[in-house]
Amino acid sequence: MRECFEVRDYDGAGRIGELDVPRADVTVETPALLPVVNPHVRTIEPGELEAEFGAEILITNAYSIYGSEEYREDALEQGLHDLYDFSGAIMTDSGSFQLSEYGSIDVDTEEILQFQHDIGSDIGTPVDIPTPPDVPREQAEEELTTTQERLELAETVDTGEMLVNAPIQGSTYADLRESAAEHAYGTSLDVFPVGAVVPLLNNYRFADVVDLVAASKRGLGEDAPVHLFGAGHPMMFALAVAMGCDLFDSAAYALYARDDRYLTVRGTEHLEDLDYFPCECPVCASHTPDDLDAKNALERERLLAEHNLHVTYGEMRRIKQAIRRGNLLELVETRARGHPTMLSGYRALVDHAEQLEATDPVAKEAFFYLSTESADRPEVHRHHDRLARLSPEGEILLSEGDTNEAYDETWRVVPPFGPFPRDLSDVYPLNAEIPERLDARAYEQAAEGVRRLAEGNPDAAFTLAYHDWPETALAAVPDSVSTFQLGVEEGDWD
Ligand code: GUN
Ligand code: ZN
Repeated sequence: MRECFEVRDYDGAGRIGELDVPRADVTVETPALLPVVNPHVRTIEPGELEAEFGAEILITNAYSIYGSEEYREDALEQGLHDLYDFSGAIMTDSGSFQLSEYGSIDVDTEEILQFQHDIGSDIGTPVDIPTPPDVPREQAEEELTTTQERLELAETVDTGEMLVNAPIQGSTYADLRESAAEHAYGTSLDVFPVGAVVPLLNNYRFADVVDLVAASKRGLGEDAPVHLFGAGHPMMFALAVAMGCDLFDSAAYALYARDDRYLTVRGTEHLEDLDYFPCECPVCASHTPDDLDAKNALERERLLAEHNLHVTYGEMRRIKQAIRRGNLLELVETRARGHPTMLSGYRALVDHAEQLEATDPVAKEAFFYLSTESADRPEVHRHHDRLARLSPEGEILLSEGDTNEAYDETWRVVPPFGPFPRDLSDVYPLNAEIPERLDARAYEQAAEGVRRLAEGNPDAAFTLAYHDWPETALAAVPDSVSTFQLGVEEGDWD
């Protein structure tokens, strides 16, 4: 067991957890946001992040401090917590991001890790190589080998109680990400950031991010805290949490504010395009877009940064509440409607339904069918797997209508789940709230349920009595099952 992390609640692969940060002597509740504090440009003071926004943890760049005549000595003498007037946990990055932006940096893993330790960082980072997306496989492999050597080197540096990140690289190759994660998990390092996703996020490639996180998670144990490095836009938090990410760092709140950009859970707006503020935070409740427009640049930047942070933290709380209530996937579904690329991300997520199913709680309060993607949720897969293991005998009617005495048993059929014994009607997820007007995918999945049941029980005789199923669903019902349309054919009992 990794001692620093404990999961409290699951929903899908999303979880509420506790990250123990021994050097700061604090426990951080996850999913958590780490606001990025730029030592040179403090848009909002760290003390205020803690007092006003409830920040339990932040991230800053040790390499910027290492190279700064202004801060280096102060950081070494006073320590980061005094320098920043912040009592929570402080994570530091190593300069890898600068490496990916500028091609080289003048420090190595041993030296920068030691420096992070010496300035009082609570979670340090080796110099991993953030290989960009879509590079030739040879480059991804070579750079991953270097990253892995550096993780092994990091294990040998005496960093006391400081936790150490083990970044997972591998570009856009899922198999490399998975083996990178296995290797990282096999080290004695503590926290597992999925690296080099910033270029994907900047290009709205959310489906690719989902696939890479899924691959990384396959290589990690459930007790591994996972950080999505450089992900700070609240529109994708629910999606990333549902895939199993626990930590996020946001420079977005400050960077976007500098460009008059306004974050929302549905995407980004330019201040000049807003006539109203679609938000309840203190800034938006007491200003109009015109008010902000009339302020000087510095004041406007600061107010926008405050709003951006409020939505960012607000979305994190909404996500945690959704995990507690067991409706995180409904929240993801809502967010997926904010932008077509988010919809692709959600479709990629349900492609991994079986992976999510492993940690998804067996019982939740309610299943709301809200979109065609609901038909592919982990709960539906789980029911289909169960159907393959049930063993009814004799002549079984699978009916969307009433029971019929002429059969040994009548089971209910409910799209997207398919058949189940009537006495399971009130059991999650079969008690789902389902719209009257369903889409074809729901019926196709119901047919898949019929198929799994029939193929698992070749000796039983099944008859399906259905109302209005599309051709694509009926075509998926195996030939061994008799079918009967209710309300149309002679002898109807519905
Ligand atoms: N910040 C954003 N992406 C990365 C990454 O891949 N590695 C490190 N160390 N920092 C990052
Ligand atoms: Zn606001």
